[in-house]
Amino acid sequence: MKKILITGISGYIGQCLNLYLSKKYKIVGIDKKKIKLKNFYLCDLLNKKKLKKIFEKEKPDIVIHLAALAVIDETKKYSDFYNNNFLVTKNIIEMMKITKTKKIIFASTAAIFKKKKGNIRENDIKKPISNYAKTKFLCEKILNKSGLDVLSFRFFNVCSSMYKFGCGEIHKPETHLIPSVVYKALNNQDVHIFGQDFNTKDGTAVRDYFHVLDLCEALKKGVSYIYGIKGFHTFNIGSGRSTTVLEIISFIKKNYNKNLKIIKIKRRSGDVDRLVCNINNAKKKLKWKPKFSHMKKIISDEVNWVKFLNKKGIKRIFKK
Ligand SMILES: NC(=O)c1ccc[n+]([C@@H]2O[C@H](COP(=O)([O-])OP(=O)(O)OC[C@H]3O[C@@H](n4cnc5c(N)ncnc54)[C@H](O)[C@@H]3O)[C@@H](O)[C@H]2O)c1
Repeated sequence: MKKILITGISGYIGQCLNLYLSKKYKIVGIDKKKIKLKNFYLCDLLNKKKLKKIFEKEKPDIVIHLAALAVIDETKKYSDFYNNNFLVTKNIIEMMKITKTKKIIFASTAAIFKKKKGNIRENDIKKPISNYAKTKFLCEKILNKSGLDVLSFRFFNVCSSMYKFGCGEIHKPETHLIPSVVYKALNNQDVHIFGQDFNTKDGTAVRDYFHVLDLCEALKKGVSYIYGIKGFHTFNIGSGRSTTVLEIISFIKKNYNKNLKIIKIKRRSGDVDRLVCNINNAKKKLKWKPKFSHMKKIISDEVNWVKFLNKKGIKRIFKK
């Protein structure tokens, strides 16, 4: 059984992925946030001494590198992202060389691309605007030069939950749209829309929302695919569908009979009009296609997740 080391395993995607892969693979997880898990190491990836011991003990076959500071927060500086996301990735590369681990799948982001009218392909122009995206792009560059076999997956907007397994999105603060809108709708709170002046059909931003289950399946396919490749390869991973903020809000209003009060706020710096991907490369090479990334499934699984959190008395924190 192959051994996969997942960094950032305590996060939203890490927890879901661990559940998804653990039947087929031996999973070892690292995070600086403690969770109850078998084969888990509490470790800041900036701590090279501790990290080296873990790598030398575990000698993983593959690394799936999810750990990152991944918040949309205008108060955070470039150095906050660089000193975590970039330096951590550098450490991982160094450790992989020590233990002769050759294969890594990296969690990159749609935000490295320049906005485009059509759907974005892997080789389209890169123009990261946010500090977060700039450091992710830098990570891609060192991975490209690392001599390792790399799949860089540019995730578009991952969302929804595996609520039946107690797994879903909780960021502190929560800045992502779908968890915010669904939570607020179910808890009768005001919903905030950032920006109504985007160059889109209804003035709100267009994004490519896709279900975390589809992401887990894409990563699983990636684990098989990476054994047949050498060098650096990129994949856009999303649904390939475009949805505006208002469309999501209207869907919830209509299907959950909620009379949401909307508060309009100016757009956040770094937010672009449209980010939607072309998934043909992933479909063809990974033999993957999204199955659950339609609004009905995405919202209903998120609604069930919010109900689960409410039952447990777990509150979400929002900036707005
Ligand atoms: N959620 C999305 O929509 C989305 C979109 C694009 C890319 N991504 C990328 O996917 C990855 C996972 O995203 P997520 O939504 O699960 O984020 P998350 O914030 O829920 O999880 C990230 C985890 O990384 C850990 N971490 C960060 N720095 C660390 C360090 N120095 N040492 C040890 N652990 C550290 C955190 O403790 C956290 O548990 C991130 O790299 C993110 O940039 C996510």
